[in-house]
Amino acid sequence: MTDRYAVFGNPISHSKSPFIHGQFAAPTQELLTYEAILAPVDGFEASLTAFFNAGGKGANVTVPFKEQAFALCDSLSPEAKLAGAVNTLSLLADGTIRGDNTDGLGLVTDLIANLGSLQDKRVLLIGAGGAARGCVLPLLNAGIAQLTISNRTHTKAQLLVDIFTSVDNGAFANRVTAVEMNELAGEFDIIINSTSASLAGELPPLPAHIITTQTVCYDMMYGASVTAFNQWALSQGAAKVIDGLGMLVGQAAKSFTLWRGIEPDTQVVLTLLRDKLMAEPK
Ligand code: ATR
Repeated sequence: MTDRYAVFGNPISHSKSPFIHGQFAAPTQELLTYEAILAPVDGFEASLTAFFNAGGKGANVTVPFKEQAFALCDSLSPEAKLAGAVNTLSLLADGTIRGDNTDGLGLVTDLIANLGSLQDKRVLLIGAGGAARGCVLPLLNAGIAQLTISNRTHTKAQLLVDIFTSVDNGAFANRVTAVEMNELAGEFDIIINSTSASLAGELPPLPAHIITTQTVCYDMMYGASVTAFNQWALSQGAAKVIDGLGMLVGQAAKSFTLWRGIEPDTQVVLTLLRDKLMAEPK
């Protein structure tokens, strides 16, 4: 029997997930289909219920439904709980729905693939929206020394830090801090841009001195050309820049493993996807 999976979003036609999961499944002889489903903005739960009633086994969820997905799960992974958002739903054998958030794990896997261990790294996370929040626990669990969160609206960065300093009896309290953008100082090994500024071709208002010749910059955005943030980082002398295509493939791989119990080959798919992206009309 062929198992059905899907990604739900609005809009969804641009989604690369059907391609990625199709590529993951092909060499593993996994019998599955993976489709993109456009749910009405006010009809996510109804669409999802119809999908599971028709035999759906699992689903990815993207903008703008990740918080709604979180709310309808019967059980949640620690990453999903702390992210307050779910990008992976699994229908369990007992009929309940489990929610995971694999976005941050995808980021961490891609960082490790590019840089090796994250142990003891000093990391600056720019932004304090949903994308940032989903990455905090996976980064801390990867053994980084320090996570500094900085956001255009500082109160949101502080709120995010408060969430993580208050969990697990304060286990993370001395490793997460919020700093105003214009007060950023010292050196960072890795700077991650989680803001949506690049979408508008804009840059977060960061002081240039935070980029040194040792800094690696990671933009969660990606495109056929170098993102605005990564262009800026390079112009300030950053050691290396990485875009978010690997994170996209990484989060998909984690979902695939949750559903199928198999770890797919991400590097082959990443190369294919990069080639596809470069060939797309600009
Ligand atoms: P997402 O789920 O993609 O994180 P979001 O929750 O709307 O989306 O958060 C967007 C993030 O990008 C926020 O941190 C936002 O900063 P504010 O909290 O100050 O709004 C940040 N952002 C968006 N446009 C930006 C810009 N032009 N410069 C700096 N930060 C920007």
